[in-house]
Amino acid sequence: MLRRLLNSSGGLRYHQRAFTHADSLWVPYREAVAEWLEEWPTDARELILFGPSGGYTLPVRFLARFERITCLDPDPLAPIIFRLRHRTVGSRVSWIARDVLLAGRANAGLQAAELERLLAEHPRAVVLFAGLLGQILFLLEERAQEETWPATRTAILRALEGCEWASIHDRLSGSTHTQISSLLGTSFSNASGVTEPVGVTLRSGESADLSRALPDDALRTIFRPPDHPSVFTHGTEEILPSRPRRLLLWQLEPGWTQIMECVRARD
Ligand SMILES: C[S@@+](CC[C@H](N)C(=O)[O-])C[C@H]1O[C@@H](n2cnc3c(N)ncnc32)[C@H](O)[C@@H]1O
Repeated sequence: MLRRLLNSSGGLRYHQRAFTHADSLWVPYREAVAEWLEEWPTDARELILFGPSGGYTLPVRFLARFERITCLDPDPLAPIIFRLRHRTVGSRVSWIARDVLLAGRANAGLQAAELERLLAEHPRAVVLFAGLLGQILFLLEERAQEETWPATRTAILRALEGCEWASIHDRLSGSTHTQISSLLGTSFSNASGVTEPVGVTLRSGESADLSRALPDDALRTIFRPPDHPSVFTHGTEEILPSRPRRLLLWQLEPGWTQIMECVRARD
């Protein structure tokens, strides 16, 4: 129970940040998320929602598109806060506290089996990972199991094949938002050594559409000027790398910024 309340991707620390900033500092990011979710051209009436927490960044207008919502989040406070914030859709929502992604994590095949079972039980549902996939590397690190992330990620992606799904996940985070200005007019060398312009200009709440994934190395170069070493990538560059995507800047706290990426498996 304590680990669930204190997990590094959510729990009390995240709720405290949300109570402080959700209706102020986070507003531009929440609006950008709402816009992207609004554009999801799905006809599905059922949603499987991974990592909703208290639903701080999830617009009720999007949730209301679904007649049935199955939420998965091990945080015991998540259902209570989510219900309070999203009263109007409360009767459509059910919760699974069981961890279908990382339980039995020593065996990536076993993890995928749990997820596959859940998907089979909801054949008409679309799936949204809401701020979760970019946290898993750090959740595994807490358990000294970070080396299992590539296999876990592969197993999750394979289980989702053929499914209509989307993810909003962290790509990179850093200790100061002033680094964002370093995006302006930056270039990076691609895998063939050719210099390409990034063509992205992000300020808090702004978004940038890309036709495919920008590699971690490129993001790091852009966001890590020599005097700011504390920039982390979140192990998510392999998530649907050839799909179009949108980068969003989320100023999580006055001195901490996340680059979030929104991507759909199909349109
Ligand atoms: C950064 S928060 C998500 C933010 C949230 N979507 C919002 O709108 O505020 C990540 C959430 O993922 C949850 N989480 C961690 N491990 C999980 C797992 N294995 N399955 C589902 N959710 C998980 C955490 O408890 C946390 O609530």
